[in-house]
Amino acid sequence: MGPPIIGISENIRRIKELVEHVAHTGFNTVIFGESGVGKEVVAQNLYQRSPRVGKPFIKINCAALPEGLLESELFGYERGAFTGAEQKRRGKFQLAHGGVLLLDEIGDMSLVLQAKLLHVLQSGEFAPLGSEKDIKTDTWVIAATNHDLKQDISEGKFREDLYYRLNIIKIYINPLRERPEDIEPLIEYYLAEYATQLGAANIVRPTPAVIAKLTTYHWPGNVRELQNVLKRMLVLGECEKIVDELFDTSAKQPAENTVSKSDGSGDTLHSLLDLGGKDLVDNNSFSLKAAKKKAVDKVEKEIISYVLKKTDWNRSKASRILKVSYKTLLNKITELNISPPAGSSDFQ
Ligand SMILES: Nc1ncnc2c1ncn2[C@@H]1O[C@H](COP(=O)(O)OP(=O)(O)O)[C@@H](O)[C@H]1O
Ligand SMILES: [Mg+2]
Repeated sequence: MGPPIIGISENIRRIKELVEHVAHTGFNTVIFGESGVGKEVVAQNLYQRSPRVGKPFIKINCAALPEGLLESELFGYERGAFTGAEQKRRGKFQLAHGGVLLLDEIGDMSLVLQAKLLHVLQSGEFAPLGSEKDIKTDTWVIAATNHDLKQDISEGKFREDLYYRLNIIKIYINPLRERPEDIEPLIEYYLAEYATQLGAANIVRPTPAVIAKLTTYHWPGNVRELQNVLKRMLVLGECEKIVDELFDTSAKQPAENTVSKSDGSGDTLHSLLDLGGKDLVDNNSFSLKAAKKKAVDKVEKEIISYVLKKTDWNRSKASRILKVSYKTLLNKITELNISPPAGSSDFQ
């Protein structure tokens, strides 16, 4: 399973202590933090230290699925419960029985499902779709989110009663930039880990100077971004160049100090304009007009994808929000090559 929780900062030290205390209780827990800070690692460590170890550890990402699919994934369904339900299927609550269910990105769950989840947490029972019989479930629910749920409550997006049900234990993981003393231990841990994977002979170790520089970077994508940088260094061997690029790229972007979903995959001017690594001045195929179209396309794609995700790919609703015609939206979806999340190709 996952790695141990690496880090020496006060924040991580307290989390490790908390994990030791909470693991045997099975109290519902919410883990807060930006993307890539290690929420899943903490959940895995809770499970591994709990009496439930050996039973299933099931994870579901509540942001990745539209409401209907998420509901059937969570609670399962009977044969014939809806068109296409040819086989009875067990839900995650059933699969996780006796073990742990990690509800990732709980802040993105719809209000309707929040109500159903609250019911399960209160009664310890649920009924699969199309079934009249309640099934008992003994599941330790751990939730994770990069949202400020208190804020979501004040905006009417998250149920307060569910918040208090879920949130017996709160664990806050700080962004990596607020605990720079963890960066070096993480680098050492993952270098050793990747050395084993790649065969130690092929490893180019970053110099102490490179490591020192990495500890001063602001890591918008947190530990996940750090892992990606290390892998790139090990494979390409150009450690200095990779660190310099990291700082160059971030200098062109606004500082990131709010809770964000960034995965650290920022564009440089070069990648945005697709200059093939050449300077703009030396690039014959460059034109301001083409660059403008590219930039506009990129922004349009992001906005449309966002609205589609928020509306569960309800395209007529999305077109109303975006104030374009339904037909224009369909054209944009094709033109900009926007695709629905995996596993949801069959809803309209
Ligand atoms: N404190 C940590 N110790 C070891 N690995 C970590 C730590 N924090 C994050 N990671 C690693 O970084 C990656 C992203 O962490 P993850 O738990 O998936 O983040 P989140 O769920 O918050 O998005 C994973 O590969 C994870 O193993
Ligand atoms: Mg995660």
